[in-house]
Amino acid sequence: MQTRIGIIGGGPSGLCLARLLSLAGIKSVILERHDRAHVEARIRAGILEQGMVDLMRKAQVGARMEREGLPHDGIVLTFGDRVERVDFAALTGGQRVMVYGQTELTRDLYDAVLSDANISVVFQAHDVHPRGFLDGQPVLEFVADGQPRALACDFIAGCDGYHGASRAAVPRDMITEYERIYPFGWLGLLADTPPVHEELIYSNHERGFALCSMRSHTRSRYYVQVGLTEKVEDWPDDRFWDEIRRRLPGRFADKMVIGPAIEKSIAPLRSFVAEPLRFGKLFLVGDAGHIVPPTGAKGLNLAASDMYYLSTALIAFYQQGRSDLLDRYSQTALRRIWAAVRFSWWFTSISHRFNDEPIERKIQLAEFDYLMGSTAGRTTIAENYVGLPFDASFG
Ligand code: APR
Ligand code: PHB
Repeated sequence: MQTRIGIIGGGPSGLCLARLLSLAGIKSVILERHDRAHVEARIRAGILEQGMVDLMRKAQVGARMEREGLPHDGIVLTFGDRVERVDFAALTGGQRVMVYGQTELTRDLYDAVLSDANISVVFQAHDVHPRGFLDGQPVLEFVADGQPRALACDFIAGCDGYHGASRAAVPRDMITEYERIYPFGWLGLLADTPPVHEELIYSNHERGFALCSMRSHTRSRYYVQVGLTEKVEDWPDDRFWDEIRRRLPGRFADKMVIGPAIEKSIAPLRSFVAEPLRFGKLFLVGDAGHIVPPTGAKGLNLAASDMYYLSTALIAFYQQGRSDLLDRYSQTALRRIWAAVRFSWWFTSISHRFNDEPIERKIQLAEFDYLMGSTAGRTTIAENYVGLPFDASFG
């Protein structure tokens, strides 16, 4: 087997990258460990920045998102009983975000990818090993249907998430990994109930952080901060609903509609960056190269700039014989990644309970007061939340 771009991982990064390349006539093969149903069923965040929305349009997979996505012009921040709204539209010259679940986005991408003549997908591809990317002919060795196979390619895109095979194949002395693990996780619950409010609510409460999000007008996604030793089995639905209502100001708690959970899971919080993101002919994209805590909803939106930069660089290579953009990929992508890592860490640090020391909450309150009383403070939240721009000089 042979192709131009060998893509490891059929999550949003691998799928969208393959589409962007295909529309420029560049063929690729995606090796995905699971099957389509498994990938689509993974519940992840649901907030798209304009950059990701634009990329979906560019990949010609934006039609349903345009119809069904919910544009949001602001968020609500609460501290104890205090309620404040951050108005993105007013603070950032009309920018907004879009509520559209990653499960839906992944489905739209698979619909397009599986009928695209330039893209092949191998599901249930096991034991994937990238070889020869540092100084020879890149090859992806893998096992499919119990048979060993090899895919020769010009370049490898490692789009296989945090636990993937691509970063693991890089010699340890060529890569630096920066990591912080937070001393708590998020317990999330999905329910077919109307959202408690028309916008997202991020709540800093003395019992811990809570978030009220949504997927549509009839489906809600809620989270509460929990200790690292907590188990989902110890959180029957009633306990979850009681806890989240205790962490919200009365006006929201009183009108929250509760119902049976469709899904409930605990996710750890992590900040992680690998440097660099290029190793010869292997490029890391999305979660394979970086992870942020979900507080700013940046995970998928950071993968978006990687996909944009790498697709632009590969298209310039094939269409104009240029390799300068491939050389700049890592540095350019990392600049935006670190900016979002900083924001996600900071937003986490001002909204979560880290310890039992009373001074922590006093300092958080002082910061909340300062931020909400200052146009500069509100603007810093708004412009980071709607997403920092892609580097316009890359191209
Ligand atoms: N071989 C083949 N496929 C693999 C391997 C492997 N060794 N390891 C992982 N995969 C597949 C996974 O099954 C998954 O479908 O790679 C895909 C990676 O997808 P994601 O983890 O969703 O990562 P990515 O595509 O970069 O998506 C961006 O940003 O913060 C997040 O929630 C956000 O998931 C979103 C991500
Ligand atoms: C979600 O809807 O799952 C979601 C929204 C915003 C976040 C994190 C998760 O910051």
